[in-house]
Amino acid sequence: MLIKSPIDLKNLKTSGQLMGKVLEQLSAFCKIGMTTAALDAEAERLILACGGSPAFKGYHTGAAPAPFPASVCVSLNDELVHGIPSRERIIKVGDVVSLDIGMKWAPKKIISRKKNIDSGVFTDTAVTFIMGKPKSEAVKLLDVTRQSLEAGIKAAQPGSSVAAIGKAVESYVKSQGNYGIVRDLVGHGVGHAVHEEPYIPNYYDPSLENIKLVPGMVIAIEPMIALGDWRVVTKPDGWTIKMKDNSLCAHFEHTLIITNKGNIVVTRRPEEK
Ligand code: MF3
Ligand code: CO
Ligand code: CO
Repeated sequence: MLIKSPIDLKNLKTSGQLMGKVLEQLSAFCKIGMTTAALDAEAERLILACGGSPAFKGYHTGAAPAPFPASVCVSLNDELVHGIPSRERIIKVGDVVSLDIGMKWAPKKIISRKKNIDSGVFTDTAVTFIMGKPKSEAVKLLDVTRQSLEAGIKAAQPGSSVAAIGKAVESYVKSQGNYGIVRDLVGHGVGHAVHEEPYIPNYYDPSLENIKLVPGMVIAIEPMIALGDWRVVTKPDGWTIKMKDNSLCAHFEHTLIITNKGNIVVTRRPEEK
């Protein structure tokens, strides 16, 4: 597990604040009748305007056949994560829209003075919202998922463990009803890359009790919760992950720094403060 340098942590705070603002602006830009490709174009424009670059564009994983082609993941309704923006996909009334966005960012002066030094830092954050006409069960699902992220954040304390985060997320969700807690995808370390060690499940895993949280660690916590069963499948596009039983699902994510006093959520959106 990587401990970030004080300079990286400073850059993560600056870029996280920019990232949070970008995600809030992108959410406000989302309108009924718009294509998901239009959301991607706006995402890329907003990231470039901050002096950053889209961290997901060109991203490879072992599982997918081709690199991710876009700057934001747009996942609708029973789609959970990694939805590919498309000119054929239109946002409709009542859609549950999840936007997951990542940026690589470095302060300008460092890029120009030390061309050979790659000092960029990565942040990763997601929200889910409903376009018009919300149904009460969908509203509750979004609230539970958002609050489970807050429970995970509260548990992410120095001296505690990665297991404590999953335990907090899981017990909060279970206290709210019979929701599906996705097990196949997890939170993760972040900062020098989109995905780093350790992996951070949204359920209690006793084997992670010995992975301690220490000041200088940077992690992304991202509960993924469904109205139905927890099982997921990958769509034929090789990227989009959806609920196997087609149930509605939600995803919220923040990047945070573990400090000696607690933690700092760097990707807080202005609306959350
Ligand atoms: N943002 C995702 C996560 O939270 C990763 C997206 S990778 C991509 O871990 F290639 F699909 F964009
Ligand atoms: Co993530
Ligand atoms: Co993400």
